[in-house]
Amino acid sequence: MATVLITGSNRGIGLQLCRQLHARGDEVIAACRKPSKSLREMNIEIIDGLDVAQQQDVDRLATMVGIRRIDTLINNAGILRLDSFPDIDEQQVIEQFRVNTLGPLKLTRALMSCLGTGSKVAIVSSRVGSIADNASGNNYGYRLSKVAANMLGANLAIDLKSDGIAVILLHPGLVATEMTGGAGISADDAAKGLIRQIDALTLQSSGKFMHAEGYELPW
Ligand SMILES: NC(=O)c1ccc[n+]([C@@H]2O[C@H](COP(=O)([O-])OP(=O)(O)OC[C@H]3O[C@@H](n4cnc5c(N)ncnc54)[C@H](OP(=O)(O)O)[C@@H]3O)[C@@H](O)[C@H]2O)c1
Repeated sequence: MATVLITGSNRGIGLQLCRQLHARGDEVIAACRKPSKSLREMNIEIIDGLDVAQQQDVDRLATMVGIRRIDTLINNAGILRLDSFPDIDEQQVIEQFRVNTLGPLKLTRALMSCLGTGSKVAIVSSRVGSIADNASGNNYGYRLSKVAANMLGANLAIDLKSDGIAVILLHPGLVATEMTGGAGISADDAAKGLIRQIDALTLQSSGKFMHAEGYELPW
């Protein structure tokens, strides 16, 4: 039985990741700011009060996890603040960077003592963080935060290899959640694809940017 810690677990893709991993017998630690009714009804361990942008919250989570081994850390929490050139709110750019980029960095760093040989770190990024794939422009803050999240994952893959920890960047597809206002595939289907990619991750394949459908995305 693997122990999996998931951020942004109260709704959307994170909630479905919790549901599916719990259903197959994994020990799920659901981290969130505030648990939803759906999450509470799952009867799994919940660590609430986690704003991934707040170092003190991240430190508190690490204390609560304690000396337990984490087999998979899924950095899923994220925000999207739409913008278009030239109307870009610098504070919103920074906010997205703090949640989408520095959040996974803070979590991974704080939980290093719980990760070991064979552990995996997943970062739910987005294909809009691909420079090569960008054909539509706009969404400066979100794109900047996700392209930096991709570099974070690629960098961690190098730095954590000697510890035997594999890292993956993931794009879930366009998913019908509060983030998108309901367009796209179901969060349930997206979670299935993400879990498949995390299951397939090895130290040899570490550092890749994968679509939930199973193909590699360009940087
Ligand atoms: N939906 C898509 O089409 C799509 C496409 C590509 C990538 N993604 C990525 O997939 C991930 C999950 O998105 P989603 O579609 O499931 O969105 P969602 O339904 O809006 O859920 C976002 C989750 O992130 C949490 N969160 C936001 N800010 C946080 C913070 N500062 N600290 C802790 N948790 C925070 C939210 O918690 P609260 O309830 O507390 O706000 C919520 O649990 C994100 O990283 C997103 O960028 C989504």
